[in-house]
Amino acid sequence: MEIKQLTINDYEEIVKLWSRAGLPFKPKGRDSKEAIQKQMRENPEFFLGVFENGKLVGTVIISSDTRKGWINRLAVDPEYRGRGIAATLIRESEKILRKRGIHIFCVLIEDYNKPSKELFKKCGYTEHTDIIYFSKRDSIDI
Ligand SMILES: CC(C)(COP(=O)(O)OP(=O)(O)OC[C@H]1O[C@@H](n2cnc3c(N)ncnc32)[C@H](O)[C@@H]1OP(=O)(O)O)[C@@H](O)C(=O)NCCC(=O)NCCS
Repeated sequence: MEIKQLTINDYEEIVKLWSRAGLPFKPKGRDSKEAIQKQMRENPEFFLGVFENGKLVGTVIISSDTRKGWINRLAVDPEYRGRGIAATLIRESEKILRKRGIHIFCVLIEDYNKPSKELFKKCGYTEHTDIIYFSKRDSIDI
């Protein structure tokens, strides 16, 4: 397993992996090629990929609001699951955020996503069942 910073040249493979992984994403919004390129320019170290023999099999996009760090678009190829790839990506994300002085790590998980909930529990995250996520967005595609 090789962990590398992703670049915009990996974009097509990233999107293919998200599709294979069944991960919902926003191709017309924050996951469009233009949007990802802009995010990569601002924070290149926030985009990590796991490669097996040159094939992209795992991704994570980190973000920071300067108070907390967020784990986004964590996805592992179905054929490569159960080998600790996601747990490794979470640990790497936390390391990158700590270097920026961030010590609270967060993730939003849909209630039905049991594998993901189990994964984050295993990685030491606390589930907050008393918090409801509210958002307001300028368009449904964003
Ligand atoms: C969730 C996902 C990223 C896990 O990837 P993975 O590389 O298989 O996970 P890991 O091998 O690192 O698993 C680490 C731990 O997570 C838990 N876990 C992972 N998959 C699980 C599953 N299907 N059921 C129950 N627990 C699971 C286990 O505790 C596991 O430890 P163990 O192998 O010692 O039992 C992967 O299933 C995936 O890509 N799902 C679709 C996209 C998605 O939902 N992303 C998360 C959005 S928040």
